[in-house]
Amino acid sequence: KTIHLSEYRVPAHLVDTMDLRFELFDNGARVHSTLRVRRNPESSEVSAPLTLDGDSLKLEHVALDGKELAAGDYEDTGDQLVIAGVPEQFELAVVTWIEPQNNTRLEGLYKSSGMFCTQCEAEGFRCITYFPDRPDVMARYRTRIEADKSSYPVLLSNGNPVEQGDLENGRHFVTWEDPFPKPSYLFALVAGDLVEKRDTFTTCSGRDIDLRIYVEPRNAEKCGHAMDSLKRSMRWDEEVYGREYDLDIFMIVAVDDFNMGAMENKGLNIFNSSCVLASQETATDLAYQRIEAIVAHEYFHNWSGNRVTCRDWFQLSLKEGFTVFRDSTFSADMGSPTVKRIEDATLLRTAQFAEDAGPMAHPVRPASYMEISNFYTLTIYEKGAEVVRMIHTLLGPDLFRKGSDLYFERHDGQAVTTDDFVKAMEDASGRDLTQFRLWYEQAGTPVLTVSDDYDPEQGVYRLTIQQSVPDTPGQTNKKPQHIPFALGLLGTEGDALPLQLDAADDIGSAPTERVLELTDASHTFEFYGLAERPVPSLLRHFSAPVRVEYPWSREQLVFLMSHDPDGFNRWDAGQRLAVDVIQSIVGAPEDAGIEPRLVEAYRTLLGDSVLDQALVAKMLQLPSEAYLIELASSPDVAAIHRARDQVLRHIATSLRDELIACYHRNTGAGGYEITPESIARRSLRNTALAWLLMINDEAGRDLAVQQFQEADNMTDRMGALRALVNSDYAAERSRALADFYERFQDDPQVVEQWFSVQSSSDRAGQLPQIKALLDHPAFDWKNPNKIRSVIGVFAGQNLAAFHNPDGSGYEFLADQVCRLDDSNPQIAARLVTPLTRWQKFAPAYSAMMHSALKRIRDKAGLSADVYEVVHKSLEA
Ligand code: ARG
Ligand code: ZN
Repeated sequence: KTIHLSEYRVPAHLVDTMDLRFELFDNGARVHSTLRVRRNPESSEVSAPLTLDGDSLKLEHVALDGKELAAGDYEDTGDQLVIAGVPEQFELAVVTWIEPQNNTRLEGLYKSSGMFCTQCEAEGFRCITYFPDRPDVMARYRTRIEADKSSYPVLLSNGNPVEQGDLENGRHFVTWEDPFPKPSYLFALVAGDLVEKRDTFTTCSGRDIDLRIYVEPRNAEKCGHAMDSLKRSMRWDEEVYGREYDLDIFMIVAVDDFNMGAMENKGLNIFNSSCVLASQETATDLAYQRIEAIVAHEYFHNWSGNRVTCRDWFQLSLKEGFTVFRDSTFSADMGSPTVKRIEDATLLRTAQFAEDAGPMAHPVRPASYMEISNFYTLTIYEKGAEVVRMIHTLLGPDLFRKGSDLYFERHDGQAVTTDDFVKAMEDASGRDLTQFRLWYEQAGTPVLTVSDDYDPEQGVYRLTIQQSVPDTPGQTNKKPQHIPFALGLLGTEGDALPLQLDAADDIGSAPTERVLELTDASHTFEFYGLAERPVPSLLRHFSAPVRVEYPWSREQLVFLMSHDPDGFNRWDAGQRLAVDVIQSIVGAPEDAGIEPRLVEAYRTLLGDSVLDQALVAKMLQLPSEAYLIELASSPDVAAIHRARDQVLRHIATSLRDELIACYHRNTGAGGYEITPESIARRSLRNTALAWLLMINDEAGRDLAVQQFQEADNMTDRMGALRALVNSDYAAERSRALADFYERFQDDPQVVEQWFSVQSSSDRAGQLPQIKALLDHPAFDWKNPNKIRSVIGVFAGQNLAAFHNPDGSGYEFLADQVCRLDDSNPQIAARLVTPLTRWQKFAPAYSAMMHSALKRIRDKAGLSADVYEVVHKSLEA
């Protein structure tokens, strides 16, 4: 069943208060709810029946204004409870019985490692009790939780604790009250045997907030980084957006079994353990950064999502795009802005562009969906964040802040649309964003084709930029979009040239960087007063989520790599050069020559101790296989894999001594710290190590073995392990893998990394080895992280093995999707993604991918989640 935005109707009934009482037992839970309901004065459906959503519930009792209803007084349609002839205002009491212990879908109330927890976004609340489970119905909640006191000493819900006490039979209760009306998707409950780590935060207006992180006792020492990140986020949101926290207590709970990263439930955020727990010995630098970003993301939702929420799920990017933009700016402020921008652009260009070019392509504000869980996508999150970033670029920081202030003030306590957001930005700035709104409506990645010429007589440089937005499923003939295009021009000495757009202007006053605004299908810009042909630096800081095509020469790229004052474009020039070099040898003979200027550029980078070392570390990374595949049409995966490997080995062989020197220069100096400088040093030394082992260098091997044994932190231990795993030193690889498992087998988050390092490796992650990992005692079919770290990583990152020309990788994935479809449809639908891109690949691959998809389609009792993804990709 497809749901359309155009069919949106305001709710016929509103719920003012929701009183909940949970009786938690080992064999199930009884949920008593009392709703104060009234007819919505804004609804034209004056005699509409009350309709409540429900999923997998056993209804035990329902009463209206104290009068018990008999089976004939309501209709149970299987997914809704419909009560006709209700009064204008009334109280409805409902009792349901649910079985959290058997809930493997991890939506609603379920059990993870012995504790009760919830995940209600988007439509999980209906698995707990009957309710109008849509975000535009906002109620004030009061929640009483009752459970056995020794097994579940900690009982948590949203808001403030208002009452607690002991009950008979060793049971106890706690009652929570949340003063802020909220949609049901923000409800949360936790019951377990947890320890708490406490801290306080004093807000800008001087209120003391009680901060608590709840974890299983064995993780008590791993909360420090999340707590520090939380406090930094709270301060940052006050300083940058003027947003103060609103309750007296803010809680985070870590749970091992969780479908996504984390959830922003009001006052009670629930996190996947891997997104909150960290220690020097067990978490990599990447994990530390991810935790800081996710803690911030969920915290920032308190305003962008909770205080102002979404009218319906088509508006999901209203909260997600804006909040990702906020957390991304926060991370940039906490570390290196250039590096953060590189990471965001890489994710977008590699994965979101692929989504936009595939069968599930959809606008930032979709017009229809079957299963909303399938729309928690890179387009909604990351492209949505880029759209907000473009508004920030067009308005400038001050007007953008005026716009966000107006948005929060105007819509506080409301459920609104992306259009309301844009309107607030328009009203505060006086800018017309009518055309800009197409970014929310049109799917597909715009392509900018840039050409230029230089007139030496007149000293004029002309730049022509044409845009087109490609067709996507169900959308053709798109209109030009409003695109902010940042650029600079460089002289032969690397000097930043003035950008004089009007011949009459005084050249001295022209800026050296401008944001051009593209609104038509084609624009020509003329730059005056240029004594020589400049080298253009295009789309600086990735100012819009678009593809840029320009006939760069390798010489220009090498030049930009070392001269562009914009760090992002320096990196980008290096990527474009490497892509060009790799593409030019795809399918070429083994001994094809490799561009010497690429090697020289890398030699310079390896010796460069002046440039920001975090940027150097990024510039040394070759474009990923996934990115090369995304750029190719009809890619032959094996050929791309070989070409990339060949370039990598050639560079490593040519620069062997420089790599050893880089390794030593970045080892020993300064102990372990979580600072950009210290992280950059580890990144550089582990990159050097990885490259040395790619060419089976013996000195490199000895360094890796030594580092593996002596490392005092997970980044270095994992760096050494990864390097060994990806080398031909089979004995060292096995020894290191066994030793690592032995050491960390009791830590689930580290075991997940141990799985990933193998399943992403073309040496240790061929299909028979992947199958062996599924039989490993630490693997658990009920735990999404384990599933992702073996199956997801294999299909998403070990591309040469997954796209094995014999088709075995595809058949394997189809088998696992079918298996998981019964227990956890959300996870199954995510895992299908690599197969859905079948049309992109060279015919031999695509035919086999297509047949694997058909096999999934034909599975009996296919879930709505997987159905939507598979059907859309077969039909596209
Ligand atoms: N709102 C959460 C976040 O981005 C994600 C929840 C996703 N849940 C789901 N069932 N898809 O912070
Ligand atoms: Zn979010």
